Amino acid sequence: MSASLSFTHLPHPAPTAAEVRAAVLANPGFGSTFTDHMVSIEWSEDANGIGGWHDAQVLPYGPIALDPAASVLHYAQEIFEGLKAYRHPDGSMALFRPDANARRFNASAQRLAMPELPEDLFVEAIQQLVRADKDWFPTVEGGSLYLRPFMIATEAFLGVRPAKQYKFLVIASPAGNYFKSGAPAVSIWVSDYTRAAPGGTGAAKCGGNYAASLVPTAEAFALGHDQVLFLDAAEHKWIEELGGMNLFFAFEDGSLITPALTGTILPGITRDSLLTLAREEGLTVSEERYSLDQWRADAASGKLIEAFACGTAAVVTPVGKVADRSGEFTIGTGGPGQLTGKLKARLTAIQRGEEPDAHGWVSVLD
Ligand code: PLP
Ligand code: COI
Repeated sequence: MSASLSFTHLPHPAPTAAEVRAAVLANPGFGSTFTDHMVSIEWSEDANGIGGWHDAQVLPYGPIALDPAASVLHYAQEIFEGLKAYRHPDGSMALFRPDANARRFNASAQRLAMPELPEDLFVEAIQQLVRADKDWFPTVEGGSLYLRPFMIATEAFLGVRPAKQYKFLVIASPAGNYFKSGAPAVSIWVSDYTRAAPGGTGAAKCGGNYAASLVPTAEAFALGHDQVLFLDAAEHKWIEELGGMNLFFAFEDGSLITPALTGTILPGITRDSLLTLAREEGLTVSEERYSLDQWRADAASGKLIEAFACGTAAVVTPVGKVADRSGEFTIGTGGPGQLTGKLKARLTAIQRGEEPDAHGWVSVLD
């Protein structure tokens, strides 16, 4: 089955009043308000045990009914994605690399023993929602419409095996700045906890990974930091990623390092895009191991001049300070660096349709 699946549009009995929406769009924050609609598609098996997607709907945003025995509530069979739609200067609406999110969604589905969604159906579902909620683009500088596609196991069954019924949903949330602090550079806390081990689910975007990161994240917040950093599970030495972002390190000799995709970190689409843009900027880019000790030493010697976090929600965010139980160190001046600013400007200009898209990353909606 593919995007030829037709979507039923259910009427909205009471869309948000224009003045209420305008207030949200002027000050959206991140992830706390939702648009008027959502998309829902069901997956189930027929009498012959052949599974398929059906009942695609664009419907009013609202609670969903779940059997209390639904597998997702017990064994956490859940995956999600995050991507943004942008309003371009010519008024058109565009998604950034939705095909890459579709591929990663299916890689996550495989790891969590869930059915894959045809890539064109994944993208079509998102487009349907953006069109339905086209009046929900933030009016603030740097705003976008954050899309959250996700899939849950809905079968009512307590045996531990892959479920036989699933629901795919897409919701949308007007988004401004991810970090509440609004600081020019973020402070990160190196956790003693482990996020992902070899052979685990670290490379999948499943809710369970984030559940496991909440205690370390709360600890980071309580200590006054903006994000948590995880090291590798085996040696607790190598830098992996933040709770919801990948990391880059920039050196005075023009080289740029990001941890390699070893199966325990999320293969970020922002990370991948920045690797390409950085090469185009003439930087020597490598995906390799980098230790916390080396980071501390390179920051002290001045060899390391900048570090930044990247992801759909956080875009490109400078890291100013790093702390663990042994103390803290500052990166460069502790504020935003030049290279970070340049890469962010290039990426966001492409996403926002202010620079030509030479890479085929921008997907304009009809
Ligand atoms: N790492 C984690 C754990 C994330 O949650 C995210 C956000 O999606 C990223 C990295 C960055 O991925 P992307 O750039 O595709 O948003
Ligand atoms: C994203 O950047 O899309 C994320 O999923 C990160 C975070 C909000 C969980």
